[in-house]
Amino acid sequence: MAKKQIDAKSADHISAQPRLHQRAREIQSYGTVNHALPLELEEPVRLEMTEHLNQLLADTMTLRDLYKKSHWQVAGPTFYQLHLLFDKHHDEQAELVDAIAERIQLLGGVSIAMAADVAETTQIERPPRGREEVPVQLSRLLDAHQVIIRETRKLARRASELGDDGTNDLVVSEVLRRNELQVWFLSEHLVDVPLVKAEEPSEIVGAA
Ligand SMILES: [Fe+2]
Repeated sequence: MAKKQIDAKSADHISAQPRLHQRAREIQSYGTVNHALPLELEEPVRLEMTEHLNQLLADTMTLRDLYKKSHWQVAGPTFYQLHLLFDKHHDEQAELVDAIAERIQLLGGVSIAMAADVAETTQIERPPRGREEVPVQLSRLLDAHQVIIRETRKLARRASELGDDGTNDLVVSEVLRRNELQVWFLSEHLVDVPLVKAEEPSEIVGAA
């Protein structure tokens, strides 16, 4: 009799209907770290590192999106090469986003993820929705790289001071070096050299 009752009860709960629209309390709040992880890094260190890494993450996500915007909206005679270059840099920034976010999670923190939260957090200037000319696109991208490069150098030094070698390595070997390289590729497009006809020596200002 008792078994029959249990069977009837569990039968009530068996259903092919997916349980939709579920909500529950968060399992971990943003801005906190798990208490005990066997990483030989104290909680205050992990807390400080994840805070800085989340700032770097928000700025890297913004730069990634700025590259896609530039990839779509670019115009002019250099359209094709910039269209391709912007997309290459976008993909490389997307890889950095994943590496930074996963570093935050492995340190016991919570990665910032959604666009609205990223927009509230980033230090990178918001561009207009409309299209801008190439020199402005390039300048905006370079300004964004500068923000990130400044942050990475500060964060790398602090990670080293606190003994978080993994964060130091990620920030220097991957984030800083990738950003420095992308800065070079962008900035060479802003050197004002003749496209077709070389300047005659007499046309060069200050030529004897
Ligand atoms: Fe595309």
